[in-house]
Amino acid sequence: MTKPYIVVLGNEKGGTGKSTIAMNLIVSLLKQGASVASVDVDVRQGTLSRYIANREKTKEKHDIPMPFHISIEKSDNMNYNEAKKEDEKKLIDTVENLQKYNYIIIDTPGNDTFLSRTAHSLADTIITPLNDSFIDLDVLVKLENAPVESLKPSIYSEMVWEQKKEKAKRSGGSIDWIVLRNRLSSLFSKNKKETRKILENLSKRIGFRLLSGFCERVIFRELFINGTTLFDLHETEVCITLSHVAAKQEMFELLNALEIPVKRKEMLEEANKQMTVA
Ligand SMILES: Nc1ncnc2c1ncn2[C@@H]1O[C@H](COP(=O)(O)OP(=O)(O)OP(=O)(O)O)[C@@H](O)[C@H]1O
Ligand SMILES: [Mg+2]
Repeated sequence: MTKPYIVVLGNEKGGTGKSTIAMNLIVSLLKQGASVASVDVDVRQGTLSRYIANREKTKEKHDIPMPFHISIEKSDNMNYNEAKKEDEKKLIDTVENLQKYNYIIIDTPGNDTFLSRTAHSLADTIITPLNDSFIDLDVLVKLENAPVESLKPSIYSEMVWEQKKEKAKRSGGSIDWIVLRNRLSSLFSKNKKETRKILENLSKRIGFRLLSGFCERVIFRELFINGTTLFDLHETEVCITLSHVAAKQEMFELLNALEIPVKRKEMLEEANKQMTVA
């Protein structure tokens, strides 16, 4: 049996689009016939869990596929080391019990927690969405008025680096790290160009792949309440616009960039072709 492919949405900066992209990724994989388990380790905010609960209600009226969903509470043990151990064990055991699924998608909070660290260490791919601002970039490198070549990795990059080592130690495996920009404006701006330049430079130094990402689109904000995504528009009789088609294309680029096992990748590409034509 092939092991599940684990994708973790992560960034220690809040509000960059982790839960939104997680949900669109989950549904796009389900629509291609894959079995998907989703795990929410951001129980305090619980956006992904609430998104899926809204979807359960819509399912009463429309035939839409569901992931198997679990949310994991962090330990309330006051002892630092014991809480760390408990959280690591809880998540590792949960993933162990999800081995029959093709994909496990884990949504993490916009801050540093033991559960989030453990999730990163279990990932085959980490997807880090960033908004197009220097404040968001500062999570990857300590931004200061100096040449980009001399900027030092920042807290989140260091955490990903540690978890890459953790995974190598635990299973000998590696982690593919994808950074993408989210909520991009369609207009040219100096800031947008500058951010891209810095990210391209950092990509080689810090060890991530840079994807073109997602534009700012109303559709991403509208569908939460029904628990639906770009990939449910036919079933829920939403009028499809050019902006929706473009957004789907952005999502396909992300799917195609995932380094999933070759056989599954062929299935994905075939399904993508059919969905683009439909
Ligand atoms: N491409 C986009 N276009 C327009 N709005 C977007 C886009 N991506 C995300 N959003 C909106 O941005 C806000 C933050 O998104 P989301 O909750 O997915 O971020 P997050 O990284 O999970 O946040 P947190 O760190 O708080 O968990 C939401 O209102 C969401 O609807
Ligand atoms: Mg979130």
